[in-house]
Amino acid sequence: MRKPLHTALNELRQKQKSTFAFNVQNFYQLEACKITAEKLKLPVIIQFSERFLRFLEDKYSVKFIMENFKSDYTYFHLDHCIDIDFIKFCIEAGFDSVMYDGSAFLIDENIKNSLIVKEHAEKFNCLVEGELGKVSGVEDGFGEEGSSYAEIQEIIRYVEETKIDLMALGIGNAHGFYENLEGIDLSILEEASKKLHPEQLFVLHGGTGLPKEVIKEAISYGVVKINISTQLKKETIDILKEFATNNSLYNEISYHTKMVEGLSNFFEQYLLEYTV
Ligand code: 13P
Repeated sequence: MRKPLHTALNELRQKQKSTFAFNVQNFYQLEACKITAEKLKLPVIIQFSERFLRFLEDKYSVKFIMENFKSDYTYFHLDHCIDIDFIKFCIEAGFDSVMYDGSAFLIDENIKNSLIVKEHAEKFNCLVEGELGKVSGVEDGFGEEGSSYAEIQEIIRYVEETKIDLMALGIGNAHGFYENLEGIDLSILEEASKKLHPEQLFVLHGGTGLPKEVIKEAISYGVVKINISTQLKKETIDILKEFATNNSLYNEISYHTKMVEGLSNFFEQYLLEYTV
């Protein structure tokens, strides 16, 4: 029986564990994600950028992708998006959660739009992720350089007014590889977790390159969804390079197998470390 995403995430929160949202960008990753989640019987979030999802809709239809890769343990999520019509399209298509990222707007505008999304999502049992404070860097065409830190009074107001399901906070985190980790400020998450409802669920963006102790501390403050994109892209290219170096003949089936096995191992390592 498939658990609703909210139930799966609440269970992780109670166990002080987290799952991962992997930003997929091809079919090998989609297949490996599903295989790994089913094998381990652990919830995994398949996360799409708006740009990649529009591409998939164009080429294959989102319905086709959902029919093939949504399963008892895989959940579908739309990453950073401000196009409310596109968010509604994903909600209606059966996504388990969507992100409305109003972090670049003033708080009033962010709250107003988050409420529009939340009201629509509730009708379809879909969770909504919101963000305060900007995560630096570009994620598949979305965002820009320059981060900002979420401010506690705004966090409290935003969560109270929107009843947001998943709260992403700018804590000095960034998309892409970190040059250094000096800017990471976990005290924002710690304070937010103390001042908000004890069951509030949090999201950590910019998971690539964060040390274990940072991830584990973030989980202790209620993070149940950690986003990984850059490291997955790198892993995919590394498997491809390794295969191309060691195989002179083109053979799609052995390449496919190698890719899916390699990516499954990659997903498995994250899940066994932080989700069980
Ligand atoms: P990384 O690219 O740093 O893994 O961040 C992914 C992310 O936060 C997607 O929203």
